[in-house]
Amino acid sequence: MARWTAAEIPDLSGRNAVVTGASEGVGLHTALELARRGARVVLGSRDRGKGEAAAARIRAETGGESAEWLPLDLGDLASVGRFAEGVSAADDGLDLLVNNGGVMALPRQLTADGFERQFGVNHLGHFALTGLLLPELLSRPGARVVTVTSGLHRSGRMDFDDLMGERRYGRFRAYTQSKLANVLFALELHRRVTAAGATLVSAVAHPGVARTGLARNGSRLRGLLVALVKLPAQSAAMGALPSLYAATAPGVAGGEAFGPDGFAERRGHPTRIRPAAQAYDRVAARRLWEMSEELTGVRFSAFDRGEVRP
Ligand SMILES: NC(=O)c1ccc[n+]([C@@H]2O[C@H](COP(=O)([O-])OP(=O)(O)OC[C@H]3O[C@@H](n4cnc5c(N)ncnc54)[C@H](OP(=O)(O)O)[C@@H]3O)[C@@H](O)[C@H]2O)c1
Repeated sequence: MARWTAAEIPDLSGRNAVVTGASEGVGLHTALELARRGARVVLGSRDRGKGEAAAARIRAETGGESAEWLPLDLGDLASVGRFAEGVSAADDGLDLLVNNGGVMALPRQLTADGFERQFGVNHLGHFALTGLLLPELLSRPGARVVTVTSGLHRSGRMDFDDLMGERRYGRFRAYTQSKLANVLFALELHRRVTAAGATLVSAVAHPGVARTGLARNGSRLRGLLVALVKLPAQSAAMGALPSLYAATAPGVAGGEAFGPDGFAERRGHPTRIRPAAQAYDRVAARRLWEMSEELTGVRFSAFDRGEVRP
């Protein structure tokens, strides 16, 4: 995949895609390039003004009715349910789900459902959304789910006894835990897909370090540290390439992970990467899955009901 660029994305005419957090940053560029190659893209995020402007920009740049925004708050399971219903209402199947939306380094806050916000938005919201859209994904052979993590998942530890940081909270600690949860989820989804005999591909991507608004929530000192760590960062468009590769390149297999090919995976063109050892902890992955089912009330029951078309 030498210096792979968005120009190599295959024709996506007739494909349906959902990108969460597509109103700005990495998600916007992911949705834009998918639409440019002919996919119909639904953008999900909270802020209506930003979301509709992003969809309008994509339509203007791609010259079609290729993009639509629907409200989605990953920190509100009722909103996740309404969004999934809106996507499913087209009854057209779903070829691609990019679990991209996210928040970073927030002071401790709770979601509408009472979950710590970074874990709730970055992991639990996407767990629920994927489960609710599973029938749509399984109706399209070879559909893909790309879950966006961070290189910082390598510092992540799952604290199952205090998942919500009630006893001890650190904003970076909660972020890295949520990003490790993204990888544990994606790899466990791959194992469950394989066991069910489905062709769904679950892959992982991270954008390296990209200039976006993500670090807006850090404290001033942390902001300075983040800025230093971020030098040199790449554009959001470059940061979208690993997601786009995982989502569209021929030959991507379930369980694979992609990130930039430069020093410390911070910038560059997409390449296959190996996530941290703790992301391959199957016991932790199963525990996270079961707790996520419990917390969200979403079960991936299509796997159990045999509604899987090979
Ligand atoms: N930028 C980097 O260097 C970097 C590095 C590693 C990993 N990442 C990962 O890349 C992904 C995208 O990050 P980014 O840098 O592009 O961030 P960004 O520019 O801040 O964009 C975040 C997107 O997520 C949406 N969002 C935030 N909270 C949401 C919620 N509760 N429900 C639904 N959507 C929500 C935002 O829209 P609304 O505010 O309107 O909801 C926005 O569209 C994240 O998963 C992040 O962890 C980024």
